[in-house]
Amino acid sequence: MRIEQSPEFQIHLQNLRHKEPLYLETIYNVGNGHLGVRDSNPLQGNNLDYIGSPGLFVNGFFDYNDVSYGEKYTEYPENDQVINRLCDPRYIRIKIADEDSATDHFQVDNIDKNLDMQTGLLHEIFSVTTPENRNFNLVIESFASLSKQNVYGIKYSIIPTNFDEEVEIIKVHDYINQQTHQQNEDVRVNQSVGQMQLDFIHDNGQPSYLVTTFRSQQGLILTYQAGENKLPDPPIEYFMDEDRHYGYHSKYFAKRGSQKEFSFLFAIGDIHPLVNAQMYSDQYVSALDNYIRDTTFRSELMASAQVWQTFWLHSDVVIDGDPAIQQSLRFNLFELNQSAGRDEYTSIPAKGLTGNGYGGHFFWDTEIFMMPFFSYTQPKLAKKLLMFRYHTLQIAKEQASEFGLKKGAMYAWRTINGYESSSYWLAGMAQFHINADIAFSVEQYYTITGDEEFLKKYGYEIILETARFWMQYGNFAEINGKQHFVINKVTGPDEYSALVDNNYYTNVMAQFNLRLAVKYATQFSNDDILSQLNVSGKEIDQMKEAADLMYLPFDKEKNIKIQYQDFEQLPRMDISKVDQSKFPLLLHYHPLMLYRYQVNKQADTIMADILFPLGNPIEELKADYEFYEPITTHDSSLSKAMYAIAASRVGKHRQSYDFFSQAVKTDLMNSHHNTQNGIHAGSLGAAWMGVVYGFAGIVNNAKHFSLEPKLPSAWNSIKFKLRLHGNECLFTIYQDEVQIELMSGKGIEVYVYNKRVKVEPENSKMVCEY
Ligand code: BGC
Repeated sequence: MRIEQSPEFQIHLQNLRHKEPLYLETIYNVGNGHLGVRDSNPLQGNNLDYIGSPGLFVNGFFDYNDVSYGEKYTEYPENDQVINRLCDPRYIRIKIADEDSATDHFQVDNIDKNLDMQTGLLHEIFSVTTPENRNFNLVIESFASLSKQNVYGIKYSIIPTNFDEEVEIIKVHDYINQQTHQQNEDVRVNQSVGQMQLDFIHDNGQPSYLVTTFRSQQGLILTYQAGENKLPDPPIEYFMDEDRHYGYHSKYFAKRGSQKEFSFLFAIGDIHPLVNAQMYSDQYVSALDNYIRDTTFRSELMASAQVWQTFWLHSDVVIDGDPAIQQSLRFNLFELNQSAGRDEYTSIPAKGLTGNGYGGHFFWDTEIFMMPFFSYTQPKLAKKLLMFRYHTLQIAKEQASEFGLKKGAMYAWRTINGYESSSYWLAGMAQFHINADIAFSVEQYYTITGDEEFLKKYGYEIILETARFWMQYGNFAEINGKQHFVINKVTGPDEYSALVDNNYYTNVMAQFNLRLAVKYATQFSNDDILSQLNVSGKEIDQMKEAADLMYLPFDKEKNIKIQYQDFEQLPRMDISKVDQSKFPLLLHYHPLMLYRYQVNKQADTIMADILFPLGNPIEELKADYEFYEPITTHDSSLSKAMYAIAASRVGKHRQSYDFFSQAVKTDLMNSHHNTQNGIHAGSLGAAWMGVVYGFAGIVNNAKHFSLEPKLPSAWNSIKFKLRLHGNECLFTIYQDEVQIELMSGKGIEVYVYNKRVKVEPENSKMVCEY
């Protein structure tokens, strides 16, 4: 296979000298769902003066930190979890004559960086100048393998420009707890770090480490091999220094203009309980070594590039008529694929594997904003993400019981290992909607894939236990003389309000959750599932009653859904009068200065309109939009893409396009000014939703798939593939026509503006005007 670079798949930023180094570290990360490596300055390693935030993150590898409270009430989480920052595999030490990059300041300038999203290869050129003015070009190629999740490859080439000297390269990683430069006191950046210990595993002919965490008692093994050089290239030799630190080095006489290459393949292990990792470290090392032995940097790169090609074949979105948006959207899909855990025991951190912002935690972001992309384009991966929730269901049940509820599961608002990790519980744990979000995502996966086996074996249990949570947390009560089911003291998606009664979004999601539990209990009435899960007819009747009587605050006069019960009593904040320097508001105001106003950090009630597009009269959607849009700051990056969808549905096409084009560029254009802390994975997924749910107008429910496209006037067409019930369909949407082509599968019916279209193997392409 040859690697051909197609220009529309390159992230090739210009004027690198004027770009913030930390932003570049994030944008040019490479990852594969198991590991992620920031694009650090390769000569800096653990240097304290380094203004950077380098690191290797392994999905699910974390440590605990104490949370200290002024007043710690019962059931407040004792610990915070934080993803560990391991040693930077990009690090290399270079000695030239008597100058040493580890002790002398080598000036490293970015000359060129290109991320080829088609192959996952990052290609960089640095110009390095020593204090004595020796200069060389350092070319680095690196990738995180998609074909072998444990493998990371890096290749260095050294080209002296103005000297002939002896050069030594040294590759030793003898530190963890990487020093980082903290920029500010942003609450969204996790300031705490895990405490790890690094032990060299006894001399086995290549550098191997055991990294263990003090508090979470996890262990991980890491090993690497040097690629073999052929003459006349200098050999790379294994060595041990006086501190019994193992590594590789190579010494040679470098002539100006000459180019020497050194390649390394890392195998970065899975996470084990500490005792196992210690006991079986030799076995684990040799198992890991199998991934990188008898192979080369190039063949691993090729194998990985092939998987990237398959990814794009099924998951690309092609926009004709908007190159800037096209590039950003591809970047977003690329990053999503780099971030998603694939082992059923990890999910997608809010910052992907590109930083320790938000502690590396998983939130509702996965289920509501990223799962649609995966369920529609990579259902196998989507299932693995849902399995993470299944495997942590017991923890969620334990949490509900410790909290004092008799039944049900209470999923953590933010977590790595399943346990709650939000110390600010008002805008954290109280976001109980996470439970219904997960159930919603199970149903969405099922309606898209038709995977009944998953539903029966795993999905229904999640749906049932989360429905049980609502029955426990909420209660029946009378409001204005009428019986209702109410859910009080919750925080909805909008984090500029907290601990409210009857948040519309939460209640409508809980209602859906309860209805799912009832629907499948009826459907599975002849199965053993119900008795296995101890479901009684009475319990199901109560769930049905609660769903039917769910209180959904609504203002009949204004024809709007109300964010929560007393929301209308609050004064409206005129956000157009707030000084621009005060955004995001959360960094400048005490929460109580926000909770007392009608002001939204992000789409809240509007989320209900988006997730349940059917059955809402357009006038009502319009009224919601006009009421909430002026008070929404979009301080959360999850917001604008949602408003783009809402605007498109109510016919505000200009606004829809504007919101979308800002949302899609969140990271590439650094529009929230904090991409340096990591990508905004939820926002990247939300942008895909903007195209597919917004402009293509795709709606799916248990009965059928439909689309009502409204293409932005600047675009000639959009093209994407979706997998619907095992059928892969290619949709090409023009300004007034849709083409649907069956790429594989037995055939499926789709509705285009209520017109029924059927694609079948014998009649695989249909054109439908609208
Ligand atoms: C948002 C949450 C989100 C979290 C992680 C917060 O700023 O308000 O909705 O889950 O970021 O992305």
